[in-house]
Amino acid sequence: MDRVSSLPDGVLCHILSFLPTKQAALTSVLSKSWLNLWKLVPNLDIDDSEFLHPEEGKGERDEIRQSFVDFVDRVLALQGDSPVKKFSLKSITCVHPDHVNRWISTVLQRGVSDLTLFIDFSYEDIEEGYYLPEEMFVSRTLVELKIRSERYVDWWRRDRGGRDRGTVLPMLKTLDIDSQFIHCGEMERFLPSFPVLEKLRMANMEWIQSDETVSSASLKELSIHGTGCEGFRNPKSISFDTPSLLSFNYSDLVAEDYPLVNMKALFEARINFIVTENQIKRVRAPNDDWLEDDEGDVILRFGNVVKLMNGIQNVQKLYLTADTFEVLSLCCESVPLFNNLKTLGITSEEGRGWQAMPVLLRKCPYIEFLLVEGLLHYVTDKCGDACDCIFREDKGRSLTSCPVKKLEIRGFRGTIKEMTMIKHFLVYFPCLKEINIYVEENDPTELRFPEVSKVINQIMEEYNKFSSCNVQLLVTDYLFEKWTAKGRVL
Ligand SMILES: *[C@@H]1O[C@H](CO)[C@@H](O)[C@H](O)[C@H]1NC(C)=O
Repeated sequence: MDRVSSLPDGVLCHILSFLPTKQAALTSVLSKSWLNLWKLVPNLDIDDSEFLHPEEGKGERDEIRQSFVDFVDRVLALQGDSPVKKFSLKSITCVHPDHVNRWISTVLQRGVSDLTLFIDFSYEDIEEGYYLPEEMFVSRTLVELKIRSERYVDWWRRDRGGRDRGTVLPMLKTLDIDSQFIHCGEMERFLPSFPVLEKLRMANMEWIQSDETVSSASLKELSIHGTGCEGFRNPKSISFDTPSLLSFNYSDLVAEDYPLVNMKALFEARINFIVTENQIKRVRAPNDDWLEDDEGDVILRFGNVVKLMNGIQNVQKLYLTADTFEVLSLCCESVPLFNNLKTLGITSEEGRGWQAMPVLLRKCPYIEFLLVEGLLHYVTDKCGDACDCIFREDKGRSLTSCPVKKLEIRGFRGTIKEMTMIKHFLVYFPCLKEINIYVEENDPTELRFPEVSKVINQIMEEYNKFSSCNVQLLVTDYLFEKWTAKGRVL
């Protein structure tokens, strides 16, 4: 302790700023000279679970909740006006929103730049909804803001008459909102409140209008987890005017149109179209006579996702989910060439088809790395030229022109069907040098039977012998939580 105590105050403050506030406060009992030091610590990290231990039911007891409120009030009061850089508050055991908002207002007034809130309230306390404090919407110091809540968060600032009062956060670079539901108004009016925003993540957002544009010149990372328009409806039209965007993570109901997609700088994209089973059926049989109903019309317009694909065509890394793959089957002949693309990742599901696979591989003329999560998929008459689900004359045709060097297979279950697909890849991908196969971790696989894993290993060995490609089977070493090669010696 003495060696530590002899350090200059500035350094001690810096050290203390890495401790949770409760522990930093405890240091004051150690030595007199520490007493007032921690009060100047610019980073506050307050977590109610350290006080209330909700798992033990203590949070139910009002006096303990009150002692938490008193502690936070005391810390903030003792610190006076000294500046706060970082404030992290976890308050999920039903402290009243008035207390929480008072603390948030205080640190905002003290110039906080990095604010992380993980807040939850009891239903009785927020019957009328939870409103963030006024200071939140006009801070000139906030650079990073993260809000997580299990409840509805209303972002929009209104006066008592419900009139829009606008928001200006001129310094905000990162905004990350993850809540049960976020109300942030229309994108056209929301985003201009953050003129220098670089990183935006919105989980569980709902589009207010069925026709919206995400427009920002500064945005570099955008992650949207949308739930369509109100009532889980497909939006009519979504546009992106984000010329500086580097990374795009988009998970949402398919919009009927993507009129403008400006993402020329894009490096990496993850696309997850959320579709219903019914929509999938219609995607597979576009010529059936269901066209009269509304949903039929909607599906016909799903082909407009090609405009989204055109907009992201400069990417080097592209990840698509199984549902996205099905939707793309409506338009894959017209998707552009992905001339910069080096990495393609796809997720498969047994109920979803690979119809888009053959064309997509041909549209990636410089692909080096193919990542496939799950080999098993729904058999259709169209995937045949990429896999060997059904017999075709031109079996493997789309693979023979594909320059992929490395293949990674995740979620391997040890079935013969998967083994024949791996062989198919070995035979038809002409440049393949390496296949890494990761065994499914969660579900029990065939490999848990010693006889099966013996056979699989023999086949792997053969694959290694007959091709110049290095085939490795990897299983998790749970003890060390890392993957180890068990290829030829399982
Ligand atoms: C992309 O967004 C989804 C949710 O929509 C999330 O689960 C995933 O972790 C995100 N991926 C990355 C790399 O950010």
